[in-house]
Amino acid sequence: MRVIRIAKWSGAVALAVGILASCATQQGGAPGATRVSALPPVTHPAENPASPAKTALGKQLFVDKRLSGTGQMACQGCHYRNLGWTDALALSKRDDGKMNTRHTPSLYNVGYQTAWYWDGRSPTLEAQVLAAWRNQIGADPEKVAAALNAVPGYASQFNAVFGTGATPDAIVKALASYLRTKVSTDSPWDRYESGQRRAVSKDAVEGQALFMGKGRCAACHTPPFYGNSTFYNVGLEQGKATPDIGRSNVTKKPEDMSAFKTPSLRSVALSGPYFHDGSVATLEEAVRYMAGGGKPDPNKSPLLTPTGLTDGEIGKVVAFLKSLTSEEPWEAPALP
Ligand code: HEC
Ligand code: HEC
Repeated sequence: MRVIRIAKWSGAVALAVGILASCATQQGGAPGATRVSALPPVTHPAENPASPAKTALGKQLFVDKRLSGTGQMACQGCHYRNLGWTDALALSKRDDGKMNTRHTPSLYNVGYQTAWYWDGRSPTLEAQVLAAWRNQIGADPEKVAAALNAVPGYASQFNAVFGTGATPDAIVKALASYLRTKVSTDSPWDRYESGQRRAVSKDAVEGQALFMGKGRCAACHTPPFYGNSTFYNVGLEQGKATPDIGRSNVTKKPEDMSAFKTPSLRSVALSGPYFHDGSVATLEEAVRYMAGGGKPDPNKSPLLTPTGLTDGEIGKVVAFLKSLTSEEPWEAPALP
């Protein structure tokens, strides 16, 4: 039974990849009773409670290019569903033509974080969304809100959800509310842990033991998120002419120099290239880098040291990480 369900989802994902070029792609809701979740429910803040109508509106806004300054770029222009909500680029180009200096992170499980951006400079998801709306897609929020109010299908939805027409605040809240529904769980590994012993390969089982044990990865990539909202220097800026100062931009502490947030490794197989600078192309290379203890750096975390994982063991850790990929059904929203 379970195998059939997974096969069906894989088919849907393959189809999603095909359609992606021309269409909005979205994660659908949880598929009901069969979903195996290792994660607690997402908490929605009291200032922005969730409702199905609000997240449905946010989903439309996320794929709508009319939110941008040029009318040419939607949020999903860099955060594609089939790429683990990233863009397969080392660095992306903004709506205004300027290059980003950091790699697009995944939006999976963004509702569980406590600080947003690679350096954690945003204290709330709503503040982050407003900044992305202004900077990544170059919007003048008041102008966009006025334009959306002129679209009857939008005006009616904003009225139903917020009791006002579209306002910058309502647009931000709907987007943030929608982002909180992007949850990666119910992976083969979660099914294995729930007792379905054949959900993953023998290599993945051995890889998980290495990840937790000899590899010492879980010190930072802590289950069940396989990440933490904590910042570490892992040596990636070493040797660069103008290093990215990372977390110290926020804390002004020298020891936070070039420290970045530990990303969640759920669905990480979908989101290459890797690291805050997109400098590593494959998952295997990324694991090899971490297992090697990173480049020497005076501010490197003492938790990251050479592990002695062999090539074969690195392959098994990769097999384990691939088993953390979830495959939610999705449906592109119709835009008013
Ligand atoms: C041009 C590419 C691009 C577009 C378009 C874009 N983003 Fe991003 N997004 C990024 C990059 C790059 C970062 C990381 C920046 C940093 O950490 O300094 C990011 C970070 C984020 C994060 C933080 C994730 C985390 O783990 O902290 C969220 C949430 C997010 N974007 C949402 C959005 C929303 C909502 C929109 C549309 C309003 C949007 N993005 C449009 C490139 C983009
Ligand atoms: C000291 C804490 C720490 C330890 C220990 C650690 N990591 Fe990481 N890991 C991080 C941080 C921080 C990043 C992001 C670094 C950056 O981009 O500057 C990261 C990034 C990664 C990435 C890239 C993810 C992405 O989305 O770009 C992978 C894969 C990864 N680690 C795997 C591992 C594995 C496997 C181990 C064990 C061998 C490990 N890590 C040990 C903190 C740690």
